[in-house]
Parts: sequence; C-alpha cells; structure tokens
Amino acid sequence: MTDLKTIPKKIIWLASYPKSGNTWFRAFLTALLGEGDLNINAMKTDGIFSSRRIFDSSADLNSTFLYDREVKNMLPDIYRCQARNFERDRLFIKVHDAYTLNANGAPIIPEEPSLCAVYFIRNPLDVACSFAGHNGGTIDEAIELMNNENGYLAKQPGNRNVNNQFAQLMLSWSGHVKSWNKNLPFPVLVLRYEDMLADTKAVFTRAVLFMKIDATEEQIDKAIAETKFEKLQQQEGKTGFAEKNRNSKQFFRKGISGDWVNELTPLQVKMIVDKHQEVMHRYGYLAVHAS
Ligand code: A3P
Repeated sequence: MTDLKTIPKKIIWLASYPKSGNTWFRAFLTALLGEGDLNINAMKTDGIFSSRRIFDSSADLNSTFLYDREVKNMLPDIYRCQARNFERDRLFIKVHDAYTLNANGAPIIPEEPSLCAVYFIRNPLDVACSFAGHNGGTIDEAIELMNNENGYLAKQPGNRNVNNQFAQLMLSWSGHVKSWNKNLPFPVLVLRYEDMLADTKAVFTRAVLFMKIDATEEQIDKAIAETKFEKLQQQEGKTGFAEKNRNSKQFFRKGISGDWVNELTPLQVKMIVDKHQEVMHRYGYLAVHAS
C-alpha cells in the first residue's frame, strides 16, 4: 500500500451486533438506489467485511492458508484497495465485527477509506430472542454469547479459514456497542431499531441526509413502502432468502419490539440486564425493562 492520502473516502459501514435491523436498512437502500422491484436476494449493498471472497479476490490469495491473526492484519489494506478500485462514489459494507485493533495495533476498520458508519442498536432483550431464532439455538445460548467478553461469530473449526466468512470478534453485546461508539476517526450515526419501527420515515430520512445521498421525499416514501416487514416476509416465503441461517425457520421472523416479555424467563432477563445495564441505560432500554 503506497500513498494513504490518495485513498478516496467512500466506504459507509453498516455496523451492528446481529439481529439489530441491518438487513431492513440494506433492503431500504436497495429499494432507494435500485430500479425495478426489490429482490431480497439481490441487495445493492457491497457485501460484508468478513467476506472471504472479497479478501481472497482482492489479495489474490487463498486465505485457507492464513492464520486469523494474519487476515486481521491485512484487512485494513484490503478495504483501502476496495475503495481505490471501485469506481462508484460510495460502498456500503455490512460489518458485525466489533471495532477492535489487530495484532499490529491498527484498527481493523481502516480510517482512510471510511466516509462514515451507521450503527444499528436494538434492545438486547429482543436481540437475544431474535438471535436464538436465527441460529436455531436456545435463548440461553444466545445470552451466553451476548455476555461473552470474547464472543465470536462464525468461529472456524480449528481456527482455520474454511467458511465463507472469517471469524468475527464481536466482544459482548455491550462491548460491541461501546467499541463503535467511542471517538472513531469518522462520523457514526446510531439508529435504534425501536425508533426505526416507531417513525421509519423520520429515522431513514435522517440516515439518508447523514450519508449525503440525493433522494426526494417521494423516493424515500416509496423505498419504505417497498421494504415493509410483511412484504419482505412474503417474499422470503415465495423465494427463500439467501442470508437465512440454514438452522433457522425464517429470517423475517416477527419484526416487532418488546416481544421479549413473552419469550424470556425472569432469570434470562436478569442475566441480560445484570450484564448490560450500563449500556442499556445509555440507550434508553432500562426504562422499557422497568415498565
Ligand atoms: P426478528 O427476528 O425479531 O423478527 P438483522 O438484519 O440485523 O439481522 O436484524 C434482523 C431482525 O430485523 C429480525 O428481527 C427481522 O425480522 C427484523 N426485520 C427485518 N426487516 C424488517 C422490517 N422491514 N421491519 C421490521 N423489522 C425487520
């Protein structure tokens, strides 16, 4: 990698702990920026940070032969190259990794190509229910991962890179939120899933302005209407959804907030609140829990 100053700032990170509304927003962007009917299996965003395909083709390497530490050391350069090589003026990259440093002491998310990030957050009590459904696992397993300070997504067997995605260090749910919401070298807009549900138009319009996308009110309204939960769920029923975990029944499961009341036991609520109360309080989730 040569002159860092010539790298165009064009990556918009769509960052979240899993099950916080990321796919909904990517569907909205697809409807907003694309033409014709929305196809959930052809999202117009630009892949996921942990993609082996992006890494292997950009580095011209087979990452099966690399240690995870080596991959994480190379990732900043991979995304500098992505920004330099793509002609479009914006790249939307989804990311579930926490914002952490690699073994070289550099942030895995490089500063130079980063225009900004949108960070999606959802009440962890609802995340636990959604995550369990997504993984086809139990709620206790989801809580265990969310409470694990060293929690990984897609941990590879024997720490070798054999899956489509690299292992992603997410930290705990609170650790993830904090990592993306400290002083980062680019602007971060936080969107609460609950606010997306309560006033979709206001929240998505704020995001469109933040990302400096040219769009009329009419275009925003149309994209919101096309990506209503029922429509996405219906489409999944007809065509399936490539991003559905093979262990889950459906991706577009309930699309509501507060259903943890019906799904969690008092002990499960306590396990989450005890661990995450500081961050829950900061984002207005403890009041919901107390009411
Ligand atoms: P549930 O499992 O509670 O239904 P992510 O994309 O970050 O993994 O988040 C997935 C969650 O967002 C799922 O929650 C999913 O149903 C919900 N979701 C997806 N599209 C939605 C929409 N248009 N409106 C509301 N919720 C939506």
